[in-house]
Amino acid sequence: MVLNQDTTIGRKPSHAIIYVKKNENKVRIRFISVKSREVDTLKRFFSGVQPSGNLTIGNYLGAIKQFVELQHEPDAEAFYCVVDMHAITVAQDPEELRRRTREIAQIYLACGVDPKQATVFIQSHVKEHAELGWLLQCASYMGELNRMTQFKDKAEGKANVNVGLFTYPILMAADILLYDTTHVPVGNDQKQHIELTRDIAERFNNKYGDTFVIPEPKIQEFGARIMALDEPTKKMSKSAESEASRIAILETPDVFKKKIMRAVTDTENSIAFDETNKPGISNLLTIYSMFADESIESLVERYHGQGYGTLKKDLVEVVTEQLSKIQQRFNEYNDVAELDKILRAGAEKASVIAEQTCNRVKDAMGLLRI
Ligand code: AMP
Ligand code: TRP
Repeated sequence: MVLNQDTTIGRKPSHAIIYVKKNENKVRIRFISVKSREVDTLKRFFSGVQPSGNLTIGNYLGAIKQFVELQHEPDAEAFYCVVDMHAITVAQDPEELRRRTREIAQIYLACGVDPKQATVFIQSHVKEHAELGWLLQCASYMGELNRMTQFKDKAEGKANVNVGLFTYPILMAADILLYDTTHVPVGNDQKQHIELTRDIAERFNNKYGDTFVIPEPKIQEFGARIMALDEPTKKMSKSAESEASRIAILETPDVFKKKIMRAVTDTENSIAFDETNKPGISNLLTIYSMFADESIESLVERYHGQGYGTLKKDLVEVVTEQLSKIQQRFNEYNDVAELDKILRAGAEKASVIAEQTCNRVKDAMGLLRI
C-alpha cells in the first residue's frame, strides 16, 4: 500500500485514527486516540479570523500573535483560515468582502505566519466546511445555541435575524473538527464557542462511535481580551461604532497617537495592574507588555511614580515601532498572484484532510457513499 501525506490508513477497534505524515522525507505515523482524548505528540492548531472589518491590535495580540508562535512548535501542524462564510452572517458588500478576504490573508503573512510552516487558506475554498456544518446542525440543539452570548449580543434589538447568525457556532465547530484539531488559539470571547464545539463532538462520539478529536481552547493569560481604549470595560472590537475604541493593525501613528493619548484611565495617577479597579491603565500595560515583550511587573516597576502621560507617550512609540514593521511587510506581500498561489495551495492541502473527516462523519451517520 502506498501511503500519501495524511492518508488515513484505518480506524482501529480501539477507536483510533491513524494518519501518515510525511515531513522532510521522514514518514511519521500520527495516532489519535479519540476515546481517551489523548493524542500522540503531534498537535494540530486551527484558527480563523473573519474578514468583516479592519483587524485591530486586539485581533493581533489575542489571536494572530499566537498563530505565529505556535507554527514553530515541533511536532505540530498549524491551519489558519480566513472565515469568509462566517462574515456573511451579517450584511457585507460583496466587492468589499472579496477585498478584505485577501487582506486578512495578507495580514497573516505580514504578522509572520509562514506558509511553509502553516497552511493558510480561505474557508469557502474547502467545501467540506459547509458540508460538515450541515451534518453537525443535525447533531446540535436549539437550546445550546440559544445560550451563546455572541448571538444574543449580535441579535439584540434586530427585527430580522438571519438563521446563519444563529447557527454560526456550528459552522465554527465544523471548521475545528474537520482537521482533528487539538488546540484552538483564540481570544477569550471565543471560549464559549469552543466549549460548544467540545459538547457537540463528545455527544456525536457517544452516539455514533468515536469520530472526532476533542479540541482544547488555547487562550493566553494576558492579551486574551484587549479592551476598548475609550471604554476599558468593553472588548476592543473591529465592528464597534466608536473609532476611538480601537487601533487597526494597518493604521498610521498620526491616527492612533490621539487615541492612545486620550485613552480612558482613572484619576489616581498611579501606575498599577488591577483589571477590576484600574481597567484602563491595566489595558495599556497589557498592550505595552505584549508589544515590547516586557513583563507587566517590570513595566510597573519602571514607571513607578511617573504620570499616565509618560506611559502613554512611550506606548505610542512601542506601538508605532511594532505596527510599522507589520505594515512594511504587508506592503511587501502585495503581489496578488503570489498570494492567490499560497491560498490555492493551502486550500488543496486542507481539502485532503477535510474530505477524509467528512467521509468519516457520513459513514458514522449512515449516509450512503458509493
Ligand atoms: P474576530 O474579529 O471576531 O474574527 O476575531 C478573530 C480572533 O481575534 C478571535 O480569536 C478573537 O477571540 C480574537 N479577538 C478579537 N477581539 C479581541 C480582543 N479585543 N482581545 C483579544 N482577542 C481578540
Ligand atoms: N468565531 C470566530 C471569531 O469571531 C472566528 C472563527 C470561525 C474561528 N471559525 C473558527 C476561530 C474556528 C477559531 C476556530 O473570532
